[in-house]
Amino acid sequence: MVEKSINYPGIFDEIAAKLPGIANHGQVASYIPELANVDPDKFGMHLINYQGEHFSLGASDEKFSIQSIAKVLALTLAYSAEEETLWQRVGVEPSGNPFNSLVQLEYEQGIPRNPFINAGALLVSDILVSHLKAPKEDLLAFTRKLCGREDIHFNAKVAESEKRTSYNNAALINLMKSYGNIKNDIDVVLDFYFNLCSIEMTCRELAQSFAFLANYGVNPLNNEQVVSASKAKRINAIMQLCGFYDEAGEFSFKVGLPGKSGVGGGVIAVYPGKFSIALWSPKLNSKGNSYKAIEVLEFLTTKTQLSIF
Ligand code: DON
Repeated sequence: MVEKSINYPGIFDEIAAKLPGIANHGQVASYIPELANVDPDKFGMHLINYQGEHFSLGASDEKFSIQSIAKVLALTLAYSAEEETLWQRVGVEPSGNPFNSLVQLEYEQGIPRNPFINAGALLVSDILVSHLKAPKEDLLAFTRKLCGREDIHFNAKVAESEKRTSYNNAALINLMKSYGNIKNDIDVVLDFYFNLCSIEMTCRELAQSFAFLANYGVNPLNNEQVVSASKAKRINAIMQLCGFYDEAGEFSFKVGLPGKSGVGGGVIAVYPGKFSIALWSPKLNSKGNSYKAIEVLEFLTTKTQLSIF
């Protein structure tokens, strides 16, 4: 077998040339009113390889709302806090349903299918509220350390905007509470969850923050073991199977990497041992995932044959 050498500058140049011709279908998320104000034509992309080289394109240094991508950071923290009982309270199976769906939760007795659908992320938020001294501050400190930057913040307007329209998430958490799977006050957990989703980052910061998942659990910035290699494998496996909700199969089929999306239009993907990459394009397809980010990532992995499969 031969390992391919990869010409990252070449492929980035090729994508830059192709970009204007790639369709930008879909709609910017509007169910959180504050997200509807984003320029739909923004595009950014940033890759960090195992040698620590950076490659970027477009608005890769512009902050955007990372939304559900932050669910991976929350899971990483919760996995360290409650490894004994975590997988009794949340599953690791794809849901095959939209991210905000309520239906499975009733017939599966309040145990969410996985940590990335909203029900699962609310459950993970409950665990963090139980275990962290100052949950919101601790989450920010964790994220800042991962990406080596201090200017990582919540967007209060986005969190507030989501709180005002939180009927669906309130229904999910109430149902789980009725089954005894939520231990804390519902409003405290929801507040944590809305702030979690409101974190703003650039593509560069996101790619850096997720580099530990491409590096067997070790943060390449400071060589700290964030989670064990085995846990990093498991988090990547859940991203592979559940990171794009009812489009997870399609994303695997097209791109072939573990990844996670957010309704802010962000996509993160990792190739263990090779690279982490973040993309941002705000228009979403009908499954709530960035249309153009997935198109570009598919082009990149197809062209370079850089897929884990
Ligand atoms: O709970 C929500 O609706 C959002 N804060 C997060 C949703 C999200 O990003 C789903 N991912 N594509």
